[in-house]
Amino acid sequence: MKTRKVVLSDEEFAQLRSLLARSAGLVFDEARRDSVAYCIAERLRATGAPDVSSYLALLSDGTERQQLLNEVTIQETHFFRNPPQIRALRKYVIPELLKHADTHGRRIRIWSAGCSTGEEPYTIAMLLRELLPTMAGWDVKVIATDVSSRALEAARSGRYGERAVQMASPDDLTRFFVATGDGHYEVRPEIRELVQFRHQNLVTDPVPFAVDERIDLVLCRNVTIYFSRETTRGLMARLHASLRDGGYLFLGHSETLWQVSEDFRLVPLGTGDSAAFVYRRIDEPPKERRGTVLPDRRTEDEGPPPPKPERRGSSRRDRTSVPAAQPVAPPSAVAVRAALSDGQYDDAIAAATKLVTSEPLNPMGHYLRGLALVNAGKDDAALVDLRKAVYLDPSSGLGHFLLAGALHRLGDPSAAAREYRAAADTLGTRKEERTAPELGGRSVQELAALCAQLEHQLGNAREESTP
Ligand SMILES: C[S@@+](CC[C@H](N)C(=O)[O-])C[C@H]1O[C@@H](n2cnc3c(N)ncnc32)[C@H](O)[C@@H]1O
Repeated sequence: MKTRKVVLSDEEFAQLRSLLARSAGLVFDEARRDSVAYCIAERLRATGAPDVSSYLALLSDGTERQQLLNEVTIQETHFFRNPPQIRALRKYVIPELLKHADTHGRRIRIWSAGCSTGEEPYTIAMLLRELLPTMAGWDVKVIATDVSSRALEAARSGRYGERAVQMASPDDLTRFFVATGDGHYEVRPEIRELVQFRHQNLVTDPVPFAVDERIDLVLCRNVTIYFSRETTRGLMARLHASLRDGGYLFLGHSETLWQVSEDFRLVPLGTGDSAAFVYRRIDEPPKERRGTVLPDRRTEDEGPPPPKPERRGSSRRDRTSVPAAQPVAPPSAVAVRAALSDGQYDDAIAAATKLVTSEPLNPMGHYLRGLALVNAGKDDAALVDLRKAVYLDPSSGLGHFLLAGALHRLGDPSAAAREYRAAADTLGTRKEERTAPELGGRSVQELAALCAQLEHQLGNAREESTP
């Protein structure tokens, strides 16, 4: 039967939104009404329900709720996704986990939370095999969970098309897959045996481990982008509790714990543009020792210390290395603003550079230096800082706005349109931006509307120039 078009009434859409938020933490805003309608149309076709209200009645049954979750969740993923993170896993994280495990019962637990169709946990298993070819005497498990039973079924089959393996090197393809000859690739048995798939809802179900079991590494990448901040907060607290001291958390490249959780340390692994930003659970020293300079608590078996960790965007200092009584005051953002308003752009760049140097992971420093560079007519250089600013704080509407302008002027309309869209979506979410002079006398809402208009214009111009 053909899928017919469905238009959801306000009441129907509200009921569905509330059900999806309660049952899996998924947020569907107005912009996604059509995609929900499309999923409902699919379910009407599959169940034979005559209309939306009859279908809504079917959702009192858990089986149909699961089918709807299978339909609305987005399974986008591939092998070796996010090359900087893969490099960090190969070079720093997995070697360190192996070293730690070697003196702790040779046991490693990794959790791929929101594993979709399995590419992520299998990739981890491949990296483990590469670094530990012989696993006799080792107890290594990658637990892979997802709320979509359909995705898990595909994951368990271990069979993939060309698109899923496009980031795998020819060497990895040969080592870890069997080409079936019909354009498909099957994951080799020695990789599959390391991975256990389990159905688990990250929002409503308990963590899939024994209470006293601690995890070395959690990957929860590109999952929280569909959750509210509150839901993400609760989830991060549970992930923190499941990790061992020193355990790692990997999020997707557009996800951040900025304003979500202060429980984790942000650690850059690698250098320059190829650095990966990952989080670690590092337990505080006992209370009575706080406020004093303490030696590095790492033990020999933990391997080399990671690059110096920072709390993202927080002026709180690491209590293990800086006495609480002597906080280091960061150079003031006010100095940057003052120099800018005087038209002293070089001074503004210098003041912003101090801010960036003292707190490299604070998005505000990068944003201000980007702003100063844009004002100085140095769009090329500004791109680097503005990209970092929106990476570190994806909710920075003005960061996206400035980045869009710089990209537009540098002749990249597609990227500019994307940033104008991000600016339109995020403007107005940050209090301090309401008073920022770069609003140019506009209200936040006016600037958001302008960004939406600019995105639209750039989109039209691209369509017209396409033969
Ligand atoms: C875009 S995929 C990400 C896959 C993989 N982590 C990656 O980054 O390549 C997002 C996955 O999160 C899952 N998901 C969404 N909400 C969930 C929830 N409440 N509990 C568990 N998984 C969820 C979806 O089913 C989907 O498979």
